[in-house]
Amino acid sequence: MTLSGSAKLAGVIGWPISQSLSPRLHGFWLAEHGIDGAYLPLAIRPEDFSTSLDGLFRAGFTGFNVTVPHKEAAFALAARHDKAARLIGAVNLLLMKDGVLEGRNTDAYGLAATLTQELGPDFLKGKTAAIWGAGGTTRAAITALAGLGVAEIRLFNRTPEKATALARAFSGKIAPKLTAAGYDAWSGKDVSLIVHTTSAGMKETPSLDLPLGDLAEGAAVFDAVYNPLETGLLRRARTEGLKPVDGLWMLLHQAVPSFEAFFGATPKVTPALRAHLLKAL
Ligand code: ATR
Repeated sequence: MTLSGSAKLAGVIGWPISQSLSPRLHGFWLAEHGIDGAYLPLAIRPEDFSTSLDGLFRAGFTGFNVTVPHKEAAFALAARHDKAARLIGAVNLLLMKDGVLEGRNTDAYGLAATLTQELGPDFLKGKTAAIWGAGGTTRAAITALAGLGVAEIRLFNRTPEKATALARAFSGKIAPKLTAAGYDAWSGKDVSLIVHTTSAGMKETPSLDLPLGDLAEGAAVFDAVYNPLETGLLRRARTEGLKPVDGLWMLLHQAVPSFEAFFGATPKVTPALRAHLLKAL
């Protein structure tokens, strides 16, 4: 599309950035809505992040998504944060609001919207969920599950100390009971949802193969990995009669609030968008 002189500009900042699917995603919605705007991939080194950001805002950009390795730096730079960014301790959306740099995090929203869409709005109310992993994505998952009314969250991680530190960091900040352990203590008893947040299963690597046999009746398994779309874990879930939910949904849903903030229109997560993204995987 040809841009006018008053086109709205936004982009995603990372280092590297060529792997990012965000330009393809936002580009699809820009075309669908016929918006006079552009969303660019911006490869910016960590040492240049702050000065580049300043220059880009001065050049008229409305805001940015921020990805690896800038999410914590973006949190530190922002003068104001939304609740999710404060809980997660990282920012993936930066906006300039009345001269104040505002940091938001849309990852928890993306997971919550995915689980609501795939499992229904009340599926997790009063239930127990387990999260495998203790990294950045885990923080977003804890935030999302707490918002969906889960009664208890059990964290399991290869390095149990990291899970314990995470549980401590969230203690007193969220309503659900939060416990932490290593994989040797894994038990699916009473667990209605597993949220897998490690990188195991990505590309050609093997998925985590903890037993899925004793989960609660009607349980579901979400895998944050979306390449491949059906990971070994999701295949196993399907075989066991559990509901599999793939990570591509979260990628699509987490982009919705950013697009709204940049371009002032509410985009939809449709099968056509999913098909468009799948072509790039
Ligand atoms: P992200 O920000 O994407 O969540 P991260 O912060 O680097 O990524 O966290 C990576 C997570 O994946 C950690 O929980 C890590 O486990 P450790 O804390 O023990 O390192 C987990 N992880 C990565 N590869 C793994 C593997 N092959 N098996 C099990 N866990 C793995």
